[in-house]
Amino acid sequence: MRIALVTGAARGIGAHIAQRFEEQGFFVYRADLQTPLRMDVTDRSEVKKAIEGICSEKGGIDVLINNAGLLASGPIDQTSGEAWDRLVAVNVTGVFNCVQAAVPAMRGRKGAAIVNMASVAAEKGGGAIGNVWYGATKAAVVAMTRGLARELGPHGIRVNAIAPTVLETDMVRDQLTPALRAKILARIPLGRIAVPDDVARLALFLASDAASFITGETIAVDGGFLRT
Ligand SMILES: NC(=O)c1ccc[n+]([C@@H]2O[C@H](COP(=O)([O-])OP(=O)(O)OC[C@H]3O[C@@H](n4cnc5c(N)ncnc54)[C@H](O)[C@@H]3O)[C@@H](O)[C@H]2O)c1
Repeated sequence: MRIALVTGAARGIGAHIAQRFEEQGFFVYRADLQTPLRMDVTDRSEVKKAIEGICSEKGGIDVLINNAGLLASGPIDQTSGEAWDRLVAVNVTGVFNCVQAAVPAMRGRKGAAIVNMASVAAEKGGGAIGNVWYGATKAAVVAMTRGLARELGPHGIRVNAIAPTVLETDMVRDQLTPALRAKILARIPLGRIAVPDDVARLALFLASDAASFITGETIAVDGGFLRT
């Protein structure tokens, strides 16, 4: 049985990804602030301990999904320094912590793969809801994806990222007013807002043998928003 670790898996996209991976026969560790596998991605020692626990239970990790993330919205001068620090801690340092701790557990496992959650905001420097600070943290995720792919490829670990456009999860629901929704829809040729399954299906593909020669990529799941 292949072993997957999904961060931020208590709700939203992460919960959906975890469910889809389980349906495909993975043993899934759902990590979050309050779930059975308590793992705050910003807490280096907690991440290390959780991953050591997985290794002693299951012998290693085949797929790491770095999904935990925070959003920052609104005018740039209304994001406090403390909010910025927390944003970077979760969205950037969280990926650093999980990759550093998980890579030793992934080396030598056939078909090992890391999937990072970026955003269309990485390319646009923010977007419809995420602001420039959020976009900057997701751009860091894109850069890490490329560099890690180069460094970990020789160890048999592929690294890719997913860049979704707005999904109606708890993260954005309050801000997705009817007016904003209409504005976003007008920019999406496929004519609908993304749903978690759009992202989960790509995560499954990127973690599968069907993607065995794909690494370093950030793939948009956005109904055409970015490229048209
Ligand atoms: N919803 C969107 O529109 C959208 C669009 C593009 C990218 N994304 C990205 O997708 C990912 C998931 O987003 P979502 O919409 O499901 O968000 P969400 O807020 O619904 O879920 C995020 C989960 O991450 C967990 N989390 C937060 N901080 C954590 C920490 N320090 N350690 C461990 N877990 C932590 C939360 O508890 C929560 O369960 C994020 O990285 C987000 O930036 C979301």
